Amino acid sequence: MRTLYSLIVVFAVPLILAARTEKTTAMEPLSPNSQNDSTANGYQKKWWKEAVVYQIYPRSFKDSNGDGIGDLKGITSQLDYIKGLGVDVIWLSPMYDSPNADNGYDIRDYRKIMTEFGTMSDFDELLKGVKQRKMKMILDLVVNHSSDEHAWFAESRKSKDNPYRDYYIWRPAKNGKEPNNWVSYFSGPAWKKDPATGEYYLHLFAEKQPDLNWENPKVRHEVYDIMKFWLDKGADGFRMDVIPFISKDQSFPDFPKDYDGNFGKVYALGPKLHDYIQEMNREVLSKYDVMTVGEAAGWTLEKTPLLVDERRNELNMIFQFDVVGIDRQRWRWKPWTWRDVKAIYTRYDKALDVHSWNTVFLSNHDNPRVVSHFGDDSPLFRLASAKALATILLTQKGTPFIYQGDELGMTNYPFTKIEEFDDIEVKNAWKAEVLTGQVDAADYIAHLRKTSRDHSRTPMQWDSSPNGGFTTAAKAWLAVNPNYKEINAKQALTDPNSIYHYFRSVIELRKKTPALIYGDYADLDPRNASIFAYTRTLGADKYLVVLNLSKENVAYTLPGALKAGQLALSNLEGKEENVPVVNLKGWEARIYKL
Ligand code: NOJ
Repeated sequence: MRTLYSLIVVFAVPLILAARTEKTTAMEPLSPNSQNDSTANGYQKKWWKEAVVYQIYPRSFKDSNGDGIGDLKGITSQLDYIKGLGVDVIWLSPMYDSPNADNGYDIRDYRKIMTEFGTMSDFDELLKGVKQRKMKMILDLVVNHSSDEHAWFAESRKSKDNPYRDYYIWRPAKNGKEPNNWVSYFSGPAWKKDPATGEYYLHLFAEKQPDLNWENPKVRHEVYDIMKFWLDKGADGFRMDVIPFISKDQSFPDFPKDYDGNFGKVYALGPKLHDYIQEMNREVLSKYDVMTVGEAAGWTLEKTPLLVDERRNELNMIFQFDVVGIDRQRWRWKPWTWRDVKAIYTRYDKALDVHSWNTVFLSNHDNPRVVSHFGDDSPLFRLASAKALATILLTQKGTPFIYQGDELGMTNYPFTKIEEFDDIEVKNAWKAEVLTGQVDAADYIAHLRKTSRDHSRTPMQWDSSPNGGFTTAAKAWLAVNPNYKEINAKQALTDPNSIYHYFRSVIELRKKTPALIYGDYADLDPRNASIFAYTRTLGADKYLVVLNLSKENVAYTLPGALKAGQLALSNLEGKEENVPVVNLKGWEARIYKL
């Protein structure tokens, strides 16, 4: 027995290690999970810390069959384009069977592909294409709620003693009204009375998105089985939709007395959240080499380690909305400053030690376009500001998530009337607030021009042909931004000065620079309103990122007698090196090696 063991050690282990090394150097530039390497400042190296992620919203990416709706074959046809950017992981927004009350975030069948998007074999082809290009793909796990058209709910609503009744959250009326005063994200009460039994079911989102009852172990195991189904197919992990909401206080209290209108914060207070996620980790995640990112709606920044500290065995990282949500309260826009954004990055950094990891994102399918939101989308500054923002995205501390089209500098859509929107959130708030006379229609639209989720959902602009080459149909499901003739992928690929090529360069620099991934973070000038200057330091390697976040030229004296060092990358022509004062044009961004 002993001899057999020695033989295995002597002969098999080196072979396994050799195979692994070959895999990591020749094919897989990222650190594998199993490797126990740590960095000079104490981070454990993991592939998902080093990865750059690209989010695809399938409905709007590329239509292959001319029905005006993006689909899986369309994505497969553009994998070289995505790979060309240098990204490692694709996050695919929901592609499951859905009646589309909330564009796929209402799932009718977790093991079936949405008919408009194609078939399971199209999915397999897509995944194969992703793997062939040495990329990975994570899927959206939407299990706080399902569609009301899911077979479970169809059963559940039939009678109080149906075997599926406890798959959802049912309560009798309280004093003839809803069981509590919770509200839905999509306007109105979070409870809906169902005629079959006269009881109410909970829906934190649309009426067609009933909340699943995680108290029921059968529900939890159904979810784990679904996860295994996709992981066994080869998916590399999950982005988990509104994950902090899965546990609910079973007494369903009304909003607390000090409630400030932020209902997400209340919904994220469920007492068993960590038990559930740890169970999910034990049952599923720990058995695979995967990446997990929780959409931590309602979560507070200081509580981040509770979900991501690796010693707790919950998630790898979470999305929080302090930055992207800085200028809005629901659909209302409010003023913001870069100083506030900078302060948030520092708070993240202070809240997380080497055992926790973060995400960096400036947009997604629930937010406006990054260049319109945080940059300047006027013809003069669109290019420079989109590149400056790409610099932040790829040099802040955390795994960066690029949203489709941001690499082209796609802008917000010039919405003028309610009929142009698709989003259920917009339509429901229109009914609840504008049609009831509480809010002026023009005022509402003016806010949505800055805040609507639909800005990011307009189709990808591939070329200058009709509908931006997104579809051959006369009409896309959501109108293409009229600027597609100037802003499109074909133009970007041929123009060496494009935002796309700049993204490629920063991604490339990040990949070969561990300090930009794992390095310690320091904001050098937090009070400065328009200059963002920070360092990333790993052992002896130190990088300075300096950005002018305004359109004015600025002669900026680096703090603390610092000199700029050697230029690693810049978004404009500026070439100064080793100087104490940098002359930055509007939206100029530079990365220096110190
Ligand atoms: C968060 C998703 O990102 C959003 O698009 C969706 O509407 C809600 N969760 C409900 O699933």
